[in-house]
Amino acid sequence: MAVIPQIIAGNWKMNLTLSQGEEFIDILLSKLSGKEFSRQLLLAPNFTLLAALARRCIGSDIGLAAQNCASQEAGAFTGETSVAMLKDAGAAYVLVGHSERRQIFGERDDLLRLKARVVTSGGLVPIFCVGETLDQRQGGQAFEVISDQLRCGLDEFPGSQLIVAYEPVWAIGTGQTATPEDARTMHAHIRKFLEAQFFWGERVPILYGGSAKPENAAELLAQPEVNGLLVGGAALDPDSFLQIALA
Ligand code: PGA
Repeated sequence: MAVIPQIIAGNWKMNLTLSQGEEFIDILLSKLSGKEFSRQLLLAPNFTLLAALARRCIGSDIGLAAQNCASQEAGAFTGETSVAMLKDAGAAYVLVGHSERRQIFGERDDLLRLKARVVTSGGLVPIFCVGETLDQRQGGQAFEVISDQLRCGLDEFPGSQLIVAYEPVWAIGTGQTATPEDARTMHAHIRKFLEAQFFWGERVPILYGGSAKPENAAELLAQPEVNGLLVGGAALDPDSFLQIALA
């Protein structure tokens, strides 16, 4: 089994203004200074904060992710943000297919496949999100849904740098976390898919997301094939993010 360094990623969604984001980074950096640390930290702020936060993070171990991107490289697409622009602003990763993009903005597998490709060809790393709804889980379809999302979204994926995030929709922002057993079995399922699909599949970090918080982080991170966490609500406060990072 490949040794994969753990990743703690914070997804700020449509929260935090520039000054709040800068204050967060300053607090985090000052509390991290002098601490022995083996996990990779990532933050996914809004587009408008990326460039300024990237300057703030120079020389630190904090990486930046964008929350979304255009599926086209450039051109007449008013309101869209290209991968080249995100790279220019200092992002190294891009979330693709977060369930809020899938559910609220109707992003479908074929669009997400294009986005995963454009992120890769633009030199950034996609964090490809998958997750089943409560109805799908209760109907016994969770494994099939995740396989379908991975199969469609990563079909002919051109790169070898990828992160997958398993985020059960029923656990996002609800306070209801997947049990360690749920996470363990789904992560094993995802690993099997990745290994069958890609010769480098054993190296892909698989993050768990959905009401991860300081109280449950250590137990989730102790599960085999849980290579990190994608944290929403609990990543909006530097102290709770730090507690998760150090869990
Ligand atoms: P949550 O969000 O931690 O608030 O459940 C996770 C996510 O949507 O990435």
